[in-house]
Amino acid sequence: MGMTKRDFLRSIGAVAGVGATYHTMSAMGLLGPVMAQATAPELPLGSGYGKRVVILGAGISGMTAAYELSKAGYQCTILEATGRAGGRNLTVRGGDVIREVDNRQWVDFDQEDHLYANMGPARIPYHHRVILGYCKEFGVELEVFTNDNRGALFHNAEAFGGKTVTGRQVMTDLRGYVAELLAKAVNRNALDEELSGEDKEQVLAMLTAFGGLDPDHLYAGSNRSGYQGEQVHAGIAPGDVNDPLDFSELLKSDFWQYKLHFSQFLNQNPTLFQPVGGMDAIAKAFRARVGHLIQFQSVAEEIRKTSQGVRIVYEDQRRNQQGAIEADFAICTIPAPVLKDIPNDFAPETQAAIESIEFEHAVKIGFQARRRFWEEDHAIYGGISWTDQDITQIWYPSNGYHQRKGVIMGAYIWDDQPGQGLRFTQMTPPERLRTAMAEGEQIHPGYTDEIESGVSRAWLNVPFQKGGWPRNYAAPPELLEPDGAIYFAGDQATALPGWQEGAALAAHAAVAAIHARVTAS
Ligand code: ALA
Repeated sequence: MGMTKRDFLRSIGAVAGVGATYHTMSAMGLLGPVMAQATAPELPLGSGYGKRVVILGAGISGMTAAYELSKAGYQCTILEATGRAGGRNLTVRGGDVIREVDNRQWVDFDQEDHLYANMGPARIPYHHRVILGYCKEFGVELEVFTNDNRGALFHNAEAFGGKTVTGRQVMTDLRGYVAELLAKAVNRNALDEELSGEDKEQVLAMLTAFGGLDPDHLYAGSNRSGYQGEQVHAGIAPGDVNDPLDFSELLKSDFWQYKLHFSQFLNQNPTLFQPVGGMDAIAKAFRARVGHLIQFQSVAEEIRKTSQGVRIVYEDQRRNQQGAIEADFAICTIPAPVLKDIPNDFAPETQAAIESIEFEHAVKIGFQARRRFWEEDHAIYGGISWTDQDITQIWYPSNGYHQRKGVIMGAYIWDDQPGQGLRFTQMTPPERLRTAMAEGEQIHPGYTDEIESGVSRAWLNVPFQKGGWPRNYAAPPELLEPDGAIYFAGDQATALPGWQEGAALAAHAAVAAIHARVTAS
């Protein structure tokens, strides 16, 4: 385009207002996290009349772009390879059939509103203001999603004899031991260079409160970790406080590597939300607004540059014929692992950038349980139990509390250890369920008997997706710039891979950039 990034941002600012520049910069990763009230680029009504935009992919990003552009009068067409809108935003319910490259699975959950599984995105943190803004605008009802639950379990085959321990124990005892160690260092004057005399007293007081230390600054266990036996809390009589977990066993476990501080990660910080009834409420809300622009079962076969803009050749699977569409601009949200193999006119550096993006081999397994044993037997309401086995984690539902049945996430794998996702991907669906049940037994003995049915999604094996989300934690710069009249969007074109927020932000950036170009020409 012959424009530097600064020119590009300045031109957007000039024609679409500061808000648009802000969003573009933010989507480009040039700003910190978006904390201001997020709004879409405000394009003047009618400013897009006479301009055609073809959007590849009816996921959250593609539909966001179509929604915003068509409000300004752009003529948008979305080519969607599948028969469904939403992309990776997928909620399954009883009676659904889902497909992978080499399998079909029938979802055998009961037909009740709370019995569903979000097989793609499943949580929205409080600071994802763009996607939350659309929920507000579209009336998508939200409820709190519990990410962190001190009553949920930690399991590691190599620690504590492979027995589970509760989050409250791990959290309390590790804090206690670390506080004790630091207090010892302070008391032995090892930190005198760092701390003044007054600071030392304050630090010791802080460590005592932080770690639940005794007056001698030693950690001898704390009722924060709960009480022995069935009784978690003190009752009529106080009962016996849990013995502290063995420090060296805690160190031997993998809990502290990231699972213990998972909710410290910015995008995993409470408060998080989920739409009531399933994450696809968001996809459905977009579809209600842009569904008329979507051509389903239209598989992009060629992405070409023309003197006027772009030409997309596609296979129209509904009519069993080839189609072509010309437009002034394209917004391409096709995931990189699929996009890289579509014949195109991209510049070599764009093609190389697309090829450089690797996607996670993410796998999810939803199980319907005949009873809510996690609530009944363990007082676990929502949240996550962690394990070092391939299934990585079990999620308990943040809805339907005290109903008879429930749907849990029996595995959510993201290649924490190399090969985990691939191993599950390569299994048949029944093998995946059996393996996940066997691993779940290590966390909840008797688990297999509680499971009535299950469904799995191995995203690497899903047509037109070929992966979960980009492993790269920043998009290659080539995807933040247009290649000719082709703009890139989707979470892969942001520093928020694997989040609907990224998908929507990338759409906003593409919309703002197209609008700037149209207005400048
Ligand atoms: N955003 C995805 C998650 O929270 C990757 O697990």
